[in-house]
Amino acid sequence: MELISQTAVEGRAGPTFGTRYPTLEGVDLTDIAAFSKGQPYAGYARLRSEAPVMWHPETRMDGPGFWAVTRHEDVMAVNGDPTTYSSQRGGILMAAGRPEARHALLYRASMDAMINLDAPHHLQLRREHMPYFTPSYLRGVGERVKGEVTRLLDAMAHKGQTDLVEDFSSVLPLFTLCEILGVPEPDRPKFLTWMHYLEEAQNMAMRSATEGMTPTLELMQFIADFNSNVEEMFEYGRHMLHKRRADPQQDLLTAIARAQVDGDLLSDEYLDGSWLLIVFAGNDTTRNTLSGSMKLLTEFPDERAKLIANPALMPGAVNEFIRMVSPVIYMRRTATCDTELNGQKIAEGEKVIMYYGAANRDAAVFADPDRLDVTRANADKHIAFGYGPHTCIGKRVAQIQLEEAYRQILARFPDMRWTGEIDIAPNNFVHAIRKLDVSFTPERKAA
Ligand code: HEM
Repeated sequence: MELISQTAVEGRAGPTFGTRYPTLEGVDLTDIAAFSKGQPYAGYARLRSEAPVMWHPETRMDGPGFWAVTRHEDVMAVNGDPTTYSSQRGGILMAAGRPEARHALLYRASMDAMINLDAPHHLQLRREHMPYFTPSYLRGVGERVKGEVTRLLDAMAHKGQTDLVEDFSSVLPLFTLCEILGVPEPDRPKFLTWMHYLEEAQNMAMRSATEGMTPTLELMQFIADFNSNVEEMFEYGRHMLHKRRADPQQDLLTAIARAQVDGDLLSDEYLDGSWLLIVFAGNDTTRNTLSGSMKLLTEFPDERAKLIANPALMPGAVNEFIRMVSPVIYMRRTATCDTELNGQKIAEGEKVIMYYGAANRDAAVFADPDRLDVTRANADKHIAFGYGPHTCIGKRVAQIQLEEAYRQILARFPDMRWTGEIDIAPNNFVHAIRKLDVSFTPERKAA
């Protein structure tokens, strides 16, 4: 199988055809610093109404520019047509800056992965993962998630005030993922540190591309730590995957290690890529939805009261949390031929970026879209998990964790609320909440 890291095209600098919609002043979706205030919902609203398929320059990262797509209907159309809108031609991430500013290994691994493959290889590789995402397999995982939620809440129960990210949201998805992957318990704490550096990766790349990296001592130390952690994460993955090839177990690591595409085992490049994809996609997304949901329940106390009064509403409420948080901000595609979207002509080779948070607040689909409504009848129409052949494989894993977490949190700490303290990473790919302080009536320790 060809390496996407070597074959992907940076894309055609556009726009080739005339623009039907204006490029809006004051909307800059490449300004990662702006995302540390949360997703730009006001900008999304302007885009949906004034420029739903807007040409967006990408000068900050020397990129070719892209069409920003923000309406629900249009995001569905792009996601649902992988023949016209390829994941593989250019990868699903925005321009990564000049090659010398990229972390070579991280860049390569972020490209050589299932999420960037088109048919037919995509489905072959996805199928190999499937046994560990079926409802029957996940029933057992659900039981273990329940125990871990209880253990984490026990540990914070006496505190009364804490950082929910540190004590809970960053730990639960890691536990769940390690259970599915088959990571031995003593190795698990390292994942927390690796995740921290992965979340900073985009920040690093952007700073080096735009600021030229003034070499302060602090920055040099950070870069050294960053590099050694990234190396360690890949070395560990490679070691475990080769170990599973030689000694198969009943786990996802083994499924990836022994996966075959066109009858061949995966190359080391695809092993690195599969490892990075699962570690990143399986952790960060759920972590940030767990944290973001607490913020929402604090902002909408009447909805919290409804959920406490009727816990049977939880599965629908979780869909609504995911709709409102939309932790994956975007996915990118490359047009494989000249095409048209919402009246805008798009040329072959041009990039198209789908904004999930914008689509999920489209009033054409969701009435009063900025309001949390735990009884919303069509909350499951959100597309935070994508749509089409690449629809999130871990969707059910995320839902199980969110349902169990909030069932137990609201039963034990019905007054838990966000204090107003929050720290969001400068990241325009994942809405990454680094800190979210909460307060609650502590449980008394048994005498
Ligand atoms: C709230 C939580 C989550 C959200 C919002 C989310 C979102 C997404 C989205 C939007 C995609 C589509 C990518 C595309 O169209 O190009 C995706 C794919 C994927 N997700 Fe998730 N995800 C979540 C949780 C998880 C979990 C828990 C796992 C693993 C345990 C996971 C693993 C993956 C993988 C492996 C893919 C690639 C699938 C493919 O290319 O066929 N995700 N996710």
